[in-house]
Amino acid sequence: MGLLTPEDIKLAQSFPRDFTWGSATASYQVEGCLDQDGRAESIWDTYAHVLGNIADGSDGSVACEQYVRYEDDIKLMKQVDLDAYRMSIAWPRIFTELNGKPNQKAIDHYKRVLDTLRAADIKPVVTLYYWDLPQYLQDLGGWVNRDTASRFGDYAAVVAGALGDRVDIWTTLNEPWCSAYLGYAQGRHAPGIRDDAQALAAVHHLNLAHGLGVQAVRSELGDSAKTSVTLNLQVVRAASDKSEDLAAAQQTRRIGNEVWLGPMLEGKYDPQIFEDTREISKWEFIREGDLEKIHQPLNSLGINYYATQYVRAAVPENQSPDSNQREDPIVGGKNIEILPPSGPLTAMGWNQEPQGLTDILLEMSQRYPDLDLVVTENGSAWDDEVVEENGERAVHDPQRVHYLSQHLRACHDAIEHGAKLTGYFAWSLLDNYEWALGYTKRFGIFYVDYPTQKRIWKDTARWYQQFIKQWKSR
Ligand code: NOJ
Repeated sequence: MGLLTPEDIKLAQSFPRDFTWGSATASYQVEGCLDQDGRAESIWDTYAHVLGNIADGSDGSVACEQYVRYEDDIKLMKQVDLDAYRMSIAWPRIFTELNGKPNQKAIDHYKRVLDTLRAADIKPVVTLYYWDLPQYLQDLGGWVNRDTASRFGDYAAVVAGALGDRVDIWTTLNEPWCSAYLGYAQGRHAPGIRDDAQALAAVHHLNLAHGLGVQAVRSELGDSAKTSVTLNLQVVRAASDKSEDLAAAQQTRRIGNEVWLGPMLEGKYDPQIFEDTREISKWEFIREGDLEKIHQPLNSLGINYYATQYVRAAVPENQSPDSNQREDPIVGGKNIEILPPSGPLTAMGWNQEPQGLTDILLEMSQRYPDLDLVVTENGSAWDDEVVEENGERAVHDPQRVHYLSQHLRACHDAIEHGAKLTGYFAWSLLDNYEWALGYTKRFGIFYVDYPTQKRIWKDTARWYQQFIKQWKSR
């Protein structure tokens, strides 16, 4: 069944020749098999086991069982004809106890996964930290404790040393924004802490972990190792041109984006960040020499993009009861109001604004012209339904297809205007464990029937397959 429109075909054929087409997942969201081969508990196990934290009361213990089903999943990737797979390594599988030795069984497992990908001619893009911090490190303070950053460096060295040339791109962190702010300020992610000052300490220690991680990978594998980080850069629009609304948008960008971009890519924190947060923290956790450690050469910047945000200066008496004000205003943003999203919303309640993706790609490429950009995640959740047709099960998901095609168009627009975008990874290969929302939201291009663990093709997977085919055959 041909799913591409003539415009889709034209679009596919006009992407650059060396573009990389991929899809992404994360260890805790897909692996399941949490007791296999030895594994320490992670902060997500602990968090998920507290009543009320997860929408459906679930945890990641089953997920997609990719830990044992990876061969079948790689066959699906091959059928779609993906060039690359973005996956993560679970830290609590590699170090199962504090000060312990690396766990050879887990290392061997990841070697098999990476070898199977390579044999299928699919490039592995590996994230070292995708939120599953070993609980024994949280017991010592987690990201509020500076020592966690150096432990991350040690872990990165072990993984790079063991898996070395099997990996194409080493990504230190995924969306540290979520680790720091959702985890330590809003308590909506593990470890479930609500303390703005701790969140800012976590910001700095995540930055430090990134720098130490890059250094570790390069010292194990040499300067030719490709290193990266993935940020969920906030695309923030001011609700009006009023100076206070513009200032609210700037402040949101500083706290959301500049806290990472500055140290990691420019070796500095914008001093205005300290000003914005002066009532919360004196940032005394920054030590001499930290910024040099954080500011390491990178080959690419990964950008995760889903939606845009509209903000305005908060005027308490004007706040409507249905405004999308977060339960806890995010660090430094107590005077900022986030407006409710508008337009057709996805099942996550997020708006669909492909232009935001074009904008952020152009902004980053103008600011960092030497850096390759990669869209490491982009996708949408919908309430999928499985239908039975001629004895086969299928999912027709026109809204997800539309979202994907619109966002690929947005990528193409950015390339046309000069962005050095080299790859796109659809989130996600499979429906999976959507963190605090459990299994209630489906982002996969393949549907997962959890009781049987069967993977079912959604139209989006077929559309992507046909799109890649058009691109390859031109
Ligand atoms: C970004 C996160 O990296 C990923 O884990 C999550 O599933 C998606 N957002 C969708 O919410």
